[in-house]
Amino acid sequence: MSARYQISGATSAAISASVESAVRAGALAPGDPLPAVRALAGELGVSPATVARAYQELRQRGLVVTAGRHGTRVRPRPPVAARRAALLPPPRPDTRDLASGHPDRRLLPPLGPHLAALAAGFGPATGYADAAVLPELAAAARERLAADGVPADELTVTGGALDGIERLLAAHLRPGDAVAVEDPGWANLLDLIAALGLRTVGVPVDDEGPTVAGVRVALAAGVRALVVTSRAQNPTGAAVSADRAEALRTLLAERADLLLIEDDHAAELARVPLHPLGGVTPAWALVRSVSKPYGPDLRLAVLAGDEATVARVAGRAQVGAGWVSTVLQHLVLALWRDPATAALVRRAADGYDRRRDGLVTALAARGLAAHGRTGINVWVPVPDETVAVTALRDAGWSVAPGSLYRIAAAPAVRITVSTLDDTDLPPLADALAHAVRPVKGGAPY
Ligand SMILES: Cc1ncc(COP(=O)(O)O)c(C=O)c1O
Repeated sequence: MSARYQISGATSAAISASVESAVRAGALAPGDPLPAVRALAGELGVSPATVARAYQELRQRGLVVTAGRHGTRVRPRPPVAARRAALLPPPRPDTRDLASGHPDRRLLPPLGPHLAALAAGFGPATGYADAAVLPELAAAARERLAADGVPADELTVTGGALDGIERLLAAHLRPGDAVAVEDPGWANLLDLIAALGLRTVGVPVDDEGPTVAGVRVALAAGVRALVVTSRAQNPTGAAVSADRAEALRTLLAERADLLLIEDDHAAELARVPLHPLGGVTPAWALVRSVSKPYGPDLRLAVLAGDEATVARVAGRAQVGAGWVSTVLQHLVLALWRDPATAALVRRAADGYDRRRDGLVTALAARGLAAHGRTGINVWVPVPDETVAVTALRDAGWSVAPGSLYRIAAAPAVRITVSTLDDTDLPPLADALAHAVRPVKGGAPY
């Protein structure tokens, strides 16, 4: 905990409000420990039960995490408007930022010409009465999903993949329910699940997706939902293979009590085929985002699923946010229909594949095993994350510590390859080899 910040309060509500306001102000940073319950109770002159209640409330709201003897800490991404800069160690100005997990902006298709064409052709303003999922967008999405083997008779549109996943979890689960997630898995999803008051059960993931044994254990633990990343798994780059899909379909067949969610966020950027699981359980959904191929600022994803699940998500949206702006829907439709945009997306996909494969190969040449079958990240197992992150930073590269993505998985670092050039690969691979290997006869550095 920051030496400057003193938690205050005489009631559990006041204590949790004090912690929350410290997180908002950045005085308690992600990962900072909170004082032990008894110590804080002593300092504040309240009973340990009062402090324990405050910590429990913060835990249920996903602001803090308690990990046995490691005590209670602020979550990596607490769901209050903390300073974004505090979420990852800020890249030093003299380092290359390979920690972001973002696509290369230079490879996103330009929106300007499509916006101009839309503006020129726009008719009368759309009102409340006629706003909904655009039939043309739904038809185009259905066609694209059907080509990948996804039964998409029922679909709706959400404000991105994570928004879709949030709506699915909220529609099917209750606070305290458990969700099976890949371990390592996408940090934002882990934080969302905590913020919804749900619990995570980690499922080990290899290059072909979540392991069958891991899913079996999670099912036995009573999870109510399973989230699978179809391709470009974040952080490992795994993609669900045909064999894995078949084995998982057999395992999940007819699990009436389980909501199956597939996240196909890479969509058109993925150069490996989709092997969907959707339809094997009565309750299922696949979300396909436009963020990675066309731009994160479009905030749009298509959500296909069984009739009841789609109706719950669409119906809940109707009594809340309403719909995703038809202006955005028209823009996405224009991007989908434009052959020049499709060519740009293909070029971006080729570029990411070359950078990722190049880094994995360069690391293999130096005796380092790394994961990165698809997507924009490479996951490199390391003996000690702090040592590796620090050594790489000293060599001029900012990478993300694996702790942001892990539950019980082994230590690693995540390297986002989206902005790497061919000439970056040898020095980066050399720096990584130095960062993870003990110096002969001496301590690791
Ligand atoms: C696994 C995963 N799913 C989804 C997304 C994108 O989601 P959204 O559509 O909300 O931008 C990301 C972005 O990094 C991701 O890593």
